[in-house]
Amino acid sequence: MNILLLSAEVTPFAKAGGLGDVAASLPKAWEELGHTPIVIVPKYGHIDTRKYEIVQTEVIFSVPMGTWQEYGRLWRGVLPDSTVPVYFIQNQDYFDREGIYGNPDGFADNDRRFLFLTRAAFEAARALQFKPDIIHAHDNHTAFAMAFLKSQYRNDPSFHEAAGVFTIHNMAYQGLYEPKRAMELTGFGMKSFYSGSWFEQHGIVNSMKTGIMFADKITTVSPTYSQEIRWAKYGEGLQNNLNERGGDLIGVLNGVDYTEWDSEKDTMLYNPYSKDTLSLKESNKQKFLRDCGLSENEALQNIPLVGMVTRLTDQKGIELLEQTIENFLSYGVMRFCIIGSGERKYEDFLRYIARKFPRRALIQIGYNTEQSHKIIAASDFLLVPSRFEPCGLTQMYALKYGTIPIVRATGGLADTIEEFNPTSMTGTGFLFSAYQRKDFAAAIRRALSVYSVQPYWNIIRANAMECDFSALRSGKTYIDVFNWARNSIR
Ligand code: ADP
Ligand code: GLC
Repeated sequence: MNILLLSAEVTPFAKAGGLGDVAASLPKAWEELGHTPIVIVPKYGHIDTRKYEIVQTEVIFSVPMGTWQEYGRLWRGVLPDSTVPVYFIQNQDYFDREGIYGNPDGFADNDRRFLFLTRAAFEAARALQFKPDIIHAHDNHTAFAMAFLKSQYRNDPSFHEAAGVFTIHNMAYQGLYEPKRAMELTGFGMKSFYSGSWFEQHGIVNSMKTGIMFADKITTVSPTYSQEIRWAKYGEGLQNNLNERGGDLIGVLNGVDYTEWDSEKDTMLYNPYSKDTLSLKESNKQKFLRDCGLSENEALQNIPLVGMVTRLTDQKGIELLEQTIENFLSYGVMRFCIIGSGERKYEDFLRYIARKFPRRALIQIGYNTEQSHKIIAASDFLLVPSRFEPCGLTQMYALKYGTIPIVRATGGLADTIEEFNPTSMTGTGFLFSAYQRKDFAAAIRRALSVYSVQPYWNIIRANAMECDFSALRSGKTYIDVFNWARNSIR
């Protein structure tokens, strides 16, 4: 099957969160399964073309934007550990600047940037003579691909056999655009924009709704989230549309690229380790603490290190952390380390924690892939207390590193982590349901009590490290979804 994957992020070239990881791991899995994927992403200014051997091609194409034409050029690279081609769309005005989205507020021209990307993907595929069987678009940024496929490109010989699959990674970001400008840019015009049209929600253009309504099939990144978003609490205003398309909506759990996230092969660690050499995990912890200047205090040697790797947003439950972590640190029952960036108020809170607990808390504000690997390996526990979590990847990475997740039972966290049961000796982590301080604190206390009982502690870590959430499994399920989508258009 020829699969065109279109995304605003792809790891390792350009990544803001889990979307980039999934946009890289799926095509690698499809290639392994004998299919022919290509990936299309923007050529952002910060992408290191030398390091990744990304080269300029001769392919230049025009892109209809409203009543005029703009231009794009293709650069070409390959996903690491594969031969999957990645085509980078160059347009200096749109992509040659710092960052991907311009967070926290977003670049003012994100409508133009991402509509250009989406339309350019069709023109690029045609220029490459790549005839997709599936166009697989991810999240609001590229959602309009589902509409273009069914209108402007419906009778185009390059695309008339292609089915459209739209994957929702996060309902909280919907790509809301001012109607007059966006409808003109897309070529649909204001005649297609009216109350209740597939482009419209509360008087503005809603890219997420457009993707949901025009796609042949819709997936989201875990089975639990695929149910949650049908309700007002998680549907972010689009629950009725999701229910309307309910028969075409399915949850496919994300998978892990174990060529990147495997404690045995991870070259970013001080000492790679397996479940049979867990003493080396301890040495990762000690070396990490030492390098961060936290080793001298002998009295704290035997207490667990609790880690987090996260965007600092409301989604990630930082509010619960604010209400909880100080107590645990004051009692001296844990050390805490985190790498994160995002909202200013959360960054300020973490700076306060760093000042108050200089020997117990290690706070890194920023984004750094190597540090994220080091923290996941060095920590004994990983906190993911999310308010909502479509899937979540860090808890799955943690399992492979024998780092025990403490998570809220929502979305993909509920689908991947099982509460440890000391009687049956089953389970891989600790969960809490209500989004409340006392429930989160109780889960942490249960976790700390297991840490101090040697047989339990060894067993839960072995259980965790035996889990297999490989992207090959999710890749296979997507192929089933793609066949389902293709059969529905025949
Ligand atoms: P989300 O996509 O909602 O941010 P996920 O758990 O799906 O959550 O994916 C987050 C990805 O981003 C993981 O690969 C994680 O390691 C990475 N990540 C998040 N914050 C940081 C950071 N500050 N530094 C490095 N990597 C980070
Ligand atoms: C989103 C979600 C996260 C998910 C990721 C990859 O960013 O917030 O839960 O794991 O996409 O699908």
